[in-house]
Amino acid sequence: MSDEKIFIFDTTLRDGEQVPGCKLNTKEKVELALQLEALGVDIIEAGFPISSPGDFHSVEEIARIVKDATVCGLSRAVEKDIEAAAQALKPARRPRIHTGIGTSDSHIRNKFNSTREEILQRAVQAVKWAKNFVDDVEFYAEDAGRTDNDYLARVVEAVIAAGATVVNIPDTTGYCLPDQYGEKIAWLKNKVPNIDKAIISCHCHNDLGLATANSIAGIRNGARQIECTINGLGERAGNTSLEEVVMVIKQHQQLGFYTGINAQELNPMSRLVSDTMRMPVQPNKAIVGANAFSHSSGIHQDGFLKDASTYEIINPEDVGAGESRIVLTARSGRSALAFRLQKIGYSFNRNDIDALYQHFLQVADTKKEVVEEDLHQLSKAYQSSLATV
Ligand code: KIV
Ligand code: ZN
Repeated sequence: MSDEKIFIFDTTLRDGEQVPGCKLNTKEKVELALQLEALGVDIIEAGFPISSPGDFHSVEEIARIVKDATVCGLSRAVEKDIEAAAQALKPARRPRIHTGIGTSDSHIRNKFNSTREEILQRAVQAVKWAKNFVDDVEFYAEDAGRTDNDYLARVVEAVIAAGATVVNIPDTTGYCLPDQYGEKIAWLKNKVPNIDKAIISCHCHNDLGLATANSIAGIRNGARQIECTINGLGERAGNTSLEEVVMVIKQHQQLGFYTGINAQELNPMSRLVSDTMRMPVQPNKAIVGANAFSHSSGIHQDGFLKDASTYEIINPEDVGAGESRIVLTARSGRSALAFRLQKIGYSFNRNDIDALYQHFLQVADTKKEVVEEDLHQLSKAYQSSLATV
């Protein structure tokens, strides 16, 4: 059986940009959109056109400039939102309107003061209205993670019958466990009679740190699109991180999936988003964090230097992260010290390294990290001590 494609729907410019402090102007959004296209994403959610004139303009400009990727605009299940999205997407070669409504009882009661039947009608009307403007209409059932599965199946069937090409099943609050989310997707796959007429999409938030695991559970149970952001940016604890799902799919080929993402661009893309959005990446972030390919304890360094695969499952060059780093700290061992000394031109024998290591530890205990300059000083002091003997 040949591998199946997972469509990557990037929402860095919409869900990611909702993060306080991450707001972008049109020029910045357009630049990021072009880079996302070059990275190989299939769908770019460019913004929420009704939300502000600035965002409308950004979506319009992105729609004009992007060539291959589908450009998508968000709307609520409200006619004037859908019309604004359609208008902003007019210049796009492949426009998609993303419309939807909350389907959990909590949303139905607390947000809309409504009923399940009325919400189902509004969902269908929104999709039908969007279909007047574009062929490609994605429907989101907001808070699907906490929506009753029977009702969710009815909504999904009705919106597909109304013309939805993609059905998005968001775990809006990041509540689901991977099994639960996977079972929800499997349930839809099995219960909705017309499900083969649409692509199921995962849109998972990271409130419990499960967004990536939930998205992977989703595709293992029948979803074929993942909504994600660079660096996992997004509301509250963020969205599924694009670099994580792409690399899970790549590293676990037995899953039988592939994406169109050029993995070597993942680190440059992460830096570009971090700089443009003025949002630092946590150092221990998988794939793109500063420490993702750094080894600092003696046991790990020794194993890594004997064979990189002992402690690394990804070659950092494959994700554009350059070389792995051997960081020297008070927890480092002799082999790491010898390796770093050799890298800057010193070749000491085993006895020298034993002796130098004691001096190294004294320095290391006073510092967070022993850097190249310290190594030069240690080596020079040691060499002159030998000369005076
Ligand atoms: O988290 C969510 O439910 C959303 C929808 C608007 C798709 O972002
Ligand atoms: Zn979201």
